[in-house]
Amino acid sequence: MDLNKTIINRLSNQPIGVFDSGLGGLSILKALKNKLPNEQFVYFGDTAHLPYGDKSEATLKAYVSSIVSFLEQQNCKMIVVACNSATTVIQKINDLPFRDHQIVEVITPIVELVAAQKKYQKIGVIGTRKTIGSGMFDRELNRINPSLDIVAKATPLLAPMVEDGFVDKNVLFPIFEKYFEGFEDRELIIPACTHYPIIYHQIEEYFNNSLKVLHTPKIIAEKVDQVLLNQNLNNPDKTEKSDLFYLSDITEDFLREAVLFLDRDVDFKQVSL
Ligand code: DGL
Repeated sequence: MDLNKTIINRLSNQPIGVFDSGLGGLSILKALKNKLPNEQFVYFGDTAHLPYGDKSEATLKAYVSSIVSFLEQQNCKMIVVACNSATTVIQKINDLPFRDHQIVEVITPIVELVAAQKKYQKIGVIGTRKTIGSGMFDRELNRINPSLDIVAKATPLLAPMVEDGFVDKNVLFPIFEKYFEGFEDRELIIPACTHYPIIYHQIEEYFNNSLKVLHTPKIIAEKVDQVLLNQNLNNPDKTEKSDLFYLSDITEDFLREAVLFLDRDVDFKQVSL
């Protein structure tokens, strides 16, 4: 019996686990659903503990560990860390039940793509305190491509505002004024937080469409597709199973916000980890 083939076949039918501190990761899930219609997904949003961007490394590692174990128990074949803040700690956790090649995070694919392109030299990066403080964007971008001119800034209010539905430009623009000081000459902004797709348009409008905001969910979905294909893990048949959605805390507000990300209602179940 070809043992490898048996394992590959079994794994290709298993779901893909996706997680975030809250609902922002649904922006990644939406892109994954478009790119990979045959796959089943299990989503976990740690709404009881958000925001992740202001947590200590030890606390964040503990949260991420529990979620990854939960997704392992859901029989996931791989996981997508749909949170930049969680990505800053994932490689520092010992004994993860997934191997490196079974984990796709949201920082490395973006860094590799931006470092390799030639069109944009003046790059702005925005994200949570945790993400910007980690240096994973500016340090890595400059390591691979030292000619890039990078301004990285923590914009900690933006994720909670998106999570709370404050996405109107009249509310956002006064905050942008403060956060985007020094971004006037940027050519490309990397929105290094999975909550930000909801406000890409407002950011571009704030800059009178004079710069580009990188649409990251699509890039991550393409990476996941590539990883699945490389490992023969892509589900060849359309799964009959529905996606599963879990939150660690459920409120009416969360349910309303989820619709903003997914453009549809889904049935969330509460799980305390
Ligand atoms: N969505 C998370 C990220 O990409 C940020 C939100 C939070 O701070 O919890 O970093």
